[in-house]
Amino acid sequence: MNIQELLKNIIHPELKQNIIDANIVQSIEENDNNIIITLLFKKQVDPFANTIKRNIEELLKKHHADKNIHVKLQFPEKKVKQWQPLADVKNIIAIASGKGGVGKSTVASNLAVSLAMNGYTVGLLDADVYGPSIPKMFGIEKEKPEVNIHEDGTELIKPIKKYGVELLSIGLFVDPSQALIWRGAMATSALKQLIEQTAWGKLDILLIDLPPGTGDIHLTLVQTVAVTGVVIVTTPQEVAIADVIKGISMFRNPQINVPVLGIIENMSWFTPAELPNNKYFIFGKDGGIRMANEFNVRLLGQIPLVQEICEAGDKGIPLVNKHSIEAEAFRNTVVHLLESLNERNKLEPTKKVEIKYK
Ligand SMILES: Nc1ncnc2c1ncn2[C@@H]1O[C@H](COP(=O)(O)OP(=O)(O)O)[C@@H](O)[C@H]1O
Ligand SMILES: [Mg+2]
Repeated sequence: MNIQELLKNIIHPELKQNIIDANIVQSIEENDNNIIITLLFKKQVDPFANTIKRNIEELLKKHHADKNIHVKLQFPEKKVKQWQPLADVKNIIAIASGKGGVGKSTVASNLAVSLAMNGYTVGLLDADVYGPSIPKMFGIEKEKPEVNIHEDGTELIKPIKKYGVELLSIGLFVDPSQALIWRGAMATSALKQLIEQTAWGKLDILLIDLPPGTGDIHLTLVQTVAVTGVVIVTTPQEVAIADVIKGISMFRNPQINVPVLGIIENMSWFTPAELPNNKYFIFGKDGGIRMANEFNVRLLGQIPLVQEICEAGDKGIPLVNKHSIEAEAFRNTVVHLLESLNERNKLEPTKKVEIKYK
């Protein structure tokens, strides 16, 4: 009987099929002294592999006593999915400001919650590695993000979900007061890790709260990911505006080339709780509008200065959860932001910045 016919007597107990019909036999080689059978099993681990090997050896020995019988066992290789950072994140929006204290984090938090309430899947990354404030604004200072291992071995941080937003901040890993003393290289590598080694999952929008000004973190960001667009937060004050101009110029620099989606003017006027219809322009009037006109960018919104916004941030409850004029201001801003994003996405996608060193 030929070898192939003989092997039809060997049954795989689990598949309940002989090893020829089950396509386990890959090759049969025969020469003067040897018979070499190569088997390829279906699974990476097959508990019957060694029994089948022995059965083949015994059976062939009976019919071909003059030859050496070799049975080679092969198993399919494990297909490892390589980790791809941000593979399922559709839009990345950086929130920048010329200087600190203009309400960038407050605006970023309220935009994030407002977007989530509109049904978008949203993430918010606190990239202000020198002064992280997102944990406090969302009341998650005590949370410790889990770390899971991806199948290729990469360690991945799991963001914390609160008010419908996937959140992450360096402040969750180190004491926020210590973050202040971080040096450039440490801060930039921490940022890269928070971007690339985080299981952000499927997101319509990832907001990134940048540190104030223009520095290493900004450059690291545009080199690490393709930023869809940037939103600039300012107050109506002249000095704030001078700083903003620097910010816009940086993102519009041909080497960086990140579109500016618009400006949000924060603390546009003061409205006391007891006089909700009064507006006091304590930081100057319409600085944001003038700037928007001058630089040909959209003014996405004007947010009043109200005690509630500040208190909400301190308590860790973003304001848009409530019904109020201030919450309305954030919701209107979101509508304009989405319009601007939509327009932007009709154009060429952003490219990651490749910096060539001399
Ligand atoms: N529109 C606003 N009304 C009242 N307080 C505000 C407003 N925007 C920001 N604040 C407060 O101002 C302070 C600075 O805001 P923050 O968002 O931390 O600024 P940045 O991130 O630009 O440094 C915080 O205490 C915040 O609660
Ligand atoms: Mg901040």
